Amino acid sequence: MLSNVMLETSKCPPHTKRGNHRGARDFAVSSTLGYLISRTKIFYIYMASIVMYYSVLLNLHKPNPLSLFLLENITMAAATPIEMETISNSKGYHEGVFITWEDVWVRASNGRKGSKSILEGVTGYARPGQLLALMGPSGCGKSTLLDALAGRLGSNTSQAGDILVNGRRQALAYGTSAYVTQDDTLMTTLTVKEAVYYSAQLQLPKTMSSSEKKERAETTMREMGLQEAMNTRIGGWGCKGLSGGQKRRVTICIEILTRPKLLFLDEPTSGLDSAASYYVMSRIARLGQTDNGTGTTVIASIHQPSSEVFQLFHNLCLLSSGRTVYFGPASDANQFFASNGFPCPTLQNPSDHFLKTINKDFEKDIEQGLADPETIIPSTEEAINILIKSYKASANYEQVRSQVAEICKQDGGLLEKKRSRARFLTQCQILTRRSFVNMYRDLGYYWLRLAIYILLSIGLATVFHNLGTTGPNSVQARGSLLMFIASFLTFMAIGGFPSFVEEMKVFERERLNGHYGVTPFVIGNSLSALPYLVLISVIPGAIVYYLPGLHEGLQHFLYFALLIFTCMMLVESLMMIVASLVPNYLMGIITGAGIQGLMILGGGFFRLPNDLPDPFWKYPLYYIAFHKYAYQGLFKNEFQGLKFANVNGVPRNKIVDGETILRKNWELEMGYSKWVDLGILFGMILLYRLVFLLILKIAEKIKPAISALLSVPPKQTTQIMVNPYALPLN
Ligand SMILES: Nc1ncnc2c1ncn2[C@@H]1O[C@H](COP(=O)(O)OP(=O)(O)OP(=O)(O)O)[C@@H](O)[C@H]1O
Ligand SMILES: [Mg+2]
Repeated sequence: MLSNVMLETSKCPPHTKRGNHRGARDFAVSSTLGYLISRTKIFYIYMASIVMYYSVLLNLHKPNPLSLFLLENITMAAATPIEMETISNSKGYHEGVFITWEDVWVRASNGRKGSKSILEGVTGYARPGQLLALMGPSGCGKSTLLDALAGRLGSNTSQAGDILVNGRRQALAYGTSAYVTQDDTLMTTLTVKEAVYYSAQLQLPKTMSSSEKKERAETTMREMGLQEAMNTRIGGWGCKGLSGGQKRRVTICIEILTRPKLLFLDEPTSGLDSAASYYVMSRIARLGQTDNGTGTTVIASIHQPSSEVFQLFHNLCLLSSGRTVYFGPASDANQFFASNGFPCPTLQNPSDHFLKTINKDFEKDIEQGLADPETIIPSTEEAINILIKSYKASANYEQVRSQVAEICKQDGGLLEKKRSRARFLTQCQILTRRSFVNMYRDLGYYWLRLAIYILLSIGLATVFHNLGTTGPNSVQARGSLLMFIASFLTFMAIGGFPSFVEEMKVFERERLNGHYGVTPFVIGNSLSALPYLVLISVIPGAIVYYLPGLHEGLQHFLYFALLIFTCMMLVESLMMIVASLVPNYLMGIITGAGIQGLMILGGGFFRLPNDLPDPFWKYPLYYIAFHKYAYQGLFKNEFQGLKFANVNGVPRNKIVDGETILRKNWELEMGYSKWVDLGILFGMILLYRLVFLLILKIAEKIKPAISALLSVPPKQTTQIMVNPYALPLN
């Protein structure tokens, strides 16, 4: 808590390069300290969540003393220390958000090739109630500038310079601002209406009634022109749904539901026709217009605005190869170009003219085809240099610097995180429902697996038909059947991984924008999967249990089905951890399959426990592989209480009991019951989900600290990056 007070209340360091550098380090240290202190709180949240999980399972959803107590305490605990501090400091806030950036440099490392500059000393500001447009040719650094401002730069980049919110250094991700990214990450199985309604329920404050939330959702959908598409599924890979432009509007719609104070938009109009672009942009510009100047601060990168859209911009930031060509009132840009010898031809859209003047990607083609040999036209590179030089010498640039300095001087308040979103239990409920609907409609999540499991079970039932308890192979065949079920059938739970990864992508976007917490997501995903897991363990389980004739008795079958259910949930939990660590689902599937392959080998079936090599395979793999407990539980369930005759290695006519076979043939640990094995597997599920939750939480805390550590003053970066072996150009 203390560290976060330091973090939140520290004023920005003086504008010296060294000062900035030190500020970044302090910021990193205090963030890391804050994370360590908050770990105990995470543990508390998780333990409380587990209790809730069971209270929901046991149908305790009606108000009772336990749930009321949990509701109160978890909601308090779910607020991170930073958030709590923000609440207590909330007096004296500026309602609007001023954001300034001064001499911002961003470099990206290219592996062994060194690094390249993406942004080179850009300076600017954005004010409440105003719309700042970022324009420039493709690849000039618009998205990078937005990412830098929103605190979302990738891990292979380093940043330098000051980015201040209301005059203070503040990490912006996780709910302080809304960001519409360049690509649309939406839940493809939902209709537009469902996606926006669920989002409204999650994001809008608990003080609003559900009819008010519904009304807000409907108004916003109408504002984005989505009324005709409300009942269309969003669609994606493999199933066509909305058009690209409609998806774009759904993404914007979800982000403006709460009327955020600070809104970043990356290409909001891509895929839209000129009329739709105008309507969407005018709605966005209108968000800022309040009488008391406290409206939304909007920063949007945009390609090809029509002249009508252009008139909506208050300020324009024109970039070329990461450098500022112009920053100032959009209405003065034309004059600036004209005064430098690049007047906009009559009847040409000014924004087209600006981009044509500073786009050097197609220079040769244009010059060869269009240039008049009599007139001397400066090359695009020269034009850009003229404009940059002129901008640096202009009164506009001085004005931008003085504006930035003036905004920095004001003692603004910290930007609040979205504290007013739905309460914890509502978030869990909505996320469970949404995830359940998604699993139901996504055939690849569970239905396809159910069909394949049924086919495989019928296959197994025919291969192992009529097992019996007499004959040399009855013991071996039982063992093989149980082993196949415990390893291969559970292994196939990996099949739902691509669908889970898609869900994770949506979670990452929503989490970065602060729609809900990490814990409700984990709880929601776990609860929604339960009915499907029950289905795919009971139906194929019954086929594979009763047709070959495994141990008779309902309680033996129930144990069998429960164990398969647990193993599948365990594999899903393992895959969740993998999903949080690897960059894409192909790598995830390979990693998950590899881990499980090792566990199957070390589980004590292919080599009996006493024959396993001690290093690695026995200690620790045999003990940490869930297959060990799955085999042992299933074998005990099957063999205990049965008697076998004519078994291999035993004199004819001698009856052998199941316990002896378990001890001698399979070398099982008979000191504890099959229920202990099942209990251990349940414990592993909780442990794996706790690890998944902690990874997500820790990543949130550590990422800003790492990017703060990576931010270095520009001069120092340049010195490090100079390649001493590079040849001179001439
Ligand atoms: N993390 C990164 N690593 C390496 N290069 C990067 C990284 N991020 C951006 N770049 C490079 O920086 C340049 C600017 O990228 P950016 O996405 O900011 O451009 P943009 O102006 O948004 O382009 P567009 O209009 O096409 O979206 C590009 O050449 C891109 O390849
Ligand atoms: Mg971009």
